[in-house]
Amino acid sequence: METTHMESFLNKLSFTSITIATLTLLLLYLKTPQIFINPNPIPHQKFPKSTCDFTHRTFTTINKHNRRIWSTKSWIQTVHSFTIQFQSLQAQNFFSNNSRILVVSAGAGHPVMALNNMGVNDVSGIEVVESHPLVRRADPHNLPFFDKVFDFVFSPYLERALFPARYVREMERTVRDGGACVVAVEECGGKEVEEVVKLFKKSKLLEVKNMTLGGERRTNIVMKVVK
Ligand SMILES: *[C@@H]1O[C@H](CO)[C@@H](O)[C@H](O)[C@H]1NC(C)=O
Ligand SMILES: *[C@@H]1O[C@H](CO)[C@@H](O)[C@H](O)[C@H]1NC(C)=O
Repeated sequence: METTHMESFLNKLSFTSITIATLTLLLLYLKTPQIFINPNPIPHQKFPKSTCDFTHRTFTTINKHNRRIWSTKSWIQTVHSFTIQFQSLQAQNFFSNNSRILVVSAGAGHPVMALNNMGVNDVSGIEVVESHPLVRRADPHNLPFFDKVFDFVFSPYLERALFPARYVREMERTVRDGGACVVAVEECGGKEVEEVVKLFKKSKLLEVKNMTLGGERRTNIVMKVVK
């Protein structure tokens, strides 16, 4: 009688510990920092075409602050330089108004605004620091998006990557087959461009172009993701 009771107790105990272990693992799994954010937030943020659009506002102070920044000469010029770059990429059919675009290391959001102004609505901008409403906070080395969800992924500042190989791997992971990854680096040529291209394991080089972005001379490297 005593042993059976003991056995059944031990069985129950081991069952309990297995359950606890499983739940703990499950919890750990659920709690990993890789929280997948829907790249298409609802309701989708629309950016004001003019200051008049601000009449209906929810985040008064943020909007006031943004309005001030967005009307500075330097903001407008930087957005314009991105617009020129994107217009050339759009003319080559790397994306259209309906594309889903991710901007990694989006800074304060200039490239995001440039794309929005061009008529591309589905643009996600991420940076280590949030700039509401253009840019959300996320780690570029661990992008909170599923595989192959974007048509086009752009980084204006690849040199900000702490781990370039991992950063590029994340860009390649989130872009669909046949989509494009575009990175801009400090103006360079030959060997340095080769070094950047080598970081891409799933893409082939399409174009290298020097241009002025945000007042700096930069080299734009266009990669097409292959299967
Ligand atoms: C893209 O959107 C812009 C702004 O709404 C519009 O002017 C342009 O004609 C659109 N392009 C195409 C190809 O539909
Ligand atoms: C870009 O500029 C660098 C440095 O001035 C030069 O070496 C390189 O050849 C240029 N690349 C292109 C594609 O013009």
